[in-house]
Amino acid sequence: MMKDTVHLHDKTFRVMIPAAEIDRAVTAVAERINTDYRAKSVPLFIGVLNGSFMFLSDLMKKIDFDCELSFVKLSSYSGTATTGQVRSLIGLNNSIEGRDVIIVEDIVDTGESIEHMVRDLESRKPASISVCTLFFKPASYSKQIPIQYRALEIGNEFIVGYGLDYNQLGRNLKDVYVVTE
Ligand code: IMP
Ligand code: MG
Repeated sequence: MMKDTVHLHDKTFRVMIPAAEIDRAVTAVAERINTDYRAKSVPLFIGVLNGSFMFLSDLMKKIDFDCELSFVKLSSYSGTATTGQVRSLIGLNNSIEGRDVIIVEDIVDTGESIEHMVRDLESRKPASISVCTLFFKPASYSKQIPIQYRALEIGNEFIVGYGLDYNQLGRNLKDVYVVTE
């Protein structure tokens, strides 16, 4: 049962993308990854916590080749505007040398976070790196790092739900909501 609006902290959000539409977009991106990676040797998905947990969980169920999964954490956000500060990558304990890596993000906005992440991972000598994001904000993106897999493209509005938060609230919502006014 979907609510039309939700209240989180001081803001009101209205429903923007219902769960069924998210599911169709996740299926489409999973099919592309299956086609591109099926012939490779045990690709490694690296999920970026916390926001990607729900997307990654649904995505992995639709992947049909042998693969491994790790999680990293890298946070730059406080409230609804980026702080411009990117903290370092934590959680990657095993070598990724020679591996085909697929980074899984909840959302690529300015690209600060993903650029930092890709640079760090590149220095660890993987065979290849690609980026898979649930949401992409093309009008905000200002980096050169290619974002190969974009499940859904949106404008510059602030969204919550399906893993994404507003000051830690809203991650549990199965539909995606946009901030009002
Ligand atoms: P970037 O470094 O500007 O690309 O921001 C990436 C990070 O900011 C994402 O991984 C999210 O954690 C957060 N973020 C950006 N836009 C939104 C949004 O609309 N809702 C919730 N979090 C967002
Ligand atoms: Mg994130």
